[in-house]
Amino acid sequence: MEATILNHPLINHKLSILRDKKTGTKEFREIVGEISQILCYECMKDAELTEKDIETPICETKGYFIDEDKYAFVPILRAGTGMLDGLLQVMPNAKIGHIGLYRNEETLKPVRYFFKAPKNLEERTVVVLDPMLATGGSGSDAITMLKDSGAKKIKFLCIIAAPQGIKKIQEDHPDVEIYCAALDKELNDIGYIVPGLGDAGDRIFGTK
Ligand code: PRP
Ligand code: URA
Repeated sequence: MEATILNHPLINHKLSILRDKKTGTKEFREIVGEISQILCYECMKDAELTEKDIETPICETKGYFIDEDKYAFVPILRAGTGMLDGLLQVMPNAKIGHIGLYRNEETLKPVRYFFKAPKNLEERTVVVLDPMLATGGSGSDAITMLKDSGAKKIKFLCIIAAPQGIKKIQEDHPDVEIYCAALDKELNDIGYIVPGLGDAGDRIFGTK
């Protein structure tokens, strides 16, 4: 499955503000929300619509509606929660799960600490949220946990991906669609995306 990379001047503009180390927590969080909302629109291009009769102030017509209940948004803690508000602004009735994973700083392998997902995952489109797809270890493990709980249709949204991260998800989970705002060049020797934006969790929550 090809990854979808958003390529739009406004996204590049917003991303450049995110990347800038001088950007403060408030603005960083706001822009993560805005870009996440755009990723949400993009990943829902195939959403099923149900036709219903409605009445405008002028006449009767057909309306087309999405069953929001059929969607589950699952942020990977911590940084993924920074993307959630943006998606909920457009899909306020989606179900929400949480996956707790952190990356061991030496091995770069994901360490699991929490999992709570909505019921009947097999009936929903599951959208995993994490701003950074670096080695892909965390994203791939989160997808494995969701599949083990029944999820069949999974999409992965991130703000910045490294080529290694995309390759890992594509190899481990070829059925999962990946959407990202930017594809960066590489990882440095401590597993950070270059040029990237630094540590997304620390920048969203102001913890450093
Ligand atoms: C960051 C990020 C991803 C992971 C990406 O989380 O939000 O979950 O690293 O790296 P990977 O693709 O190499 O696995 P981190 O472990 O820093 O946890 P945090 O969100 O709690 O800060
Ligand atoms: N996690 C981050 O927050 N940033 C990176 O560049 C890589 C992993």
